[in-house]
Amino acid sequence: MEDRCPTGIMGFDNLVGGGLPRSRTVLVNGTCGTGKTVFSTQFLYRGAVDYGEPGILVMLEQDAEEFKDDMRSFNIDLKRLEDEGKLIIINAKLTHREGNFLELKSETHDINPDMATVDNLTEVIRGAVDQIGAKRVVLDSLSSMTLSFEDSRSLRHLILNLNYTLKSLGLTTLIISDEIAGDVTEAAEKYVVDGVLTLRYVTVGPDPGRTLVIDKMRKTRHSENIHTLRFGDDGIEILEE
Ligand SMILES: Nc1ncnc2c1ncn2[C@@H]1O[C@H](COP(=O)(O)OP(=O)(O)OP(=O)(O)O)[C@@H](O)[C@H]1O
Ligand SMILES: [Mg+2]
Repeated sequence: MEDRCPTGIMGFDNLVGGGLPRSRTVLVNGTCGTGKTVFSTQFLYRGAVDYGEPGILVMLEQDAEEFKDDMRSFNIDLKRLEDEGKLIIINAKLTHREGNFLELKSETHDINPDMATVDNLTEVIRGAVDQIGAKRVVLDSLSSMTLSFEDSRSLRHLILNLNYTLKSLGLTTLIISDEIAGDVTEAAEKYVVDGVLTLRYVTVGPDPGRTLVIDKMRKTRHSENIHTLRFGDDGIEILEE
């Protein structure tokens, strides 16, 4: 198998030697509204449409129906991918259960009700991967999961478990992480993952605009510049210097 996993996002892949390192996990980090969800969704969409690689989206932040509707403005038809068996969306909803209270649901993947909690997320993803032969996974977002966890030890355990399992299945994974503006604590997950992308949206000062920076990418000779990011008709584009 090729050792790069092209995102198909215009202007991005040539910054990372042709694509993300395959079978690795990359964190997409940034404050609200910086384009993390659109970037990651394009990775799944272009993967399925341009490279024949089905994907799994674990959506904790937004309602799946609303989200699919939003993506239509970028000519991204996720419903079609679902119908064609190229995408499974696993929606996680808050419930009033005891413990780690996220309930997992999917329109196109049967989840055993006994398994439909975040503690079983790894197994549920594995089942979805088997169903459509997925090669790519997006988790949106880690931060929402943190909220639902009562203790950080079981969260850390889940992340390590997820990381290990997805790698061993050969999946290339994007994990979205919401950064709080001004927060200087270095999150532990940044050290565990193989790559970190940071998206920013500067609205004041001499140099306003959207940017993308590659903070780290193991196994890759990558760009060290600050790149301009733009929302075009088909979603995010990274502009040339
Ligand atoms: N149709 C559109 N055309 C142009 N820009 C858009 C369009 N839809 C969304 N955007 C831009 O994308 C931003 C949202 O992108 P996205 O949802 O990927 O951000 P995010 O980083 O995931 O945000 P959050 O942290 O809130 O989840 C909007 O705030 C807006 O600036
Ligand atoms: Mg988002």
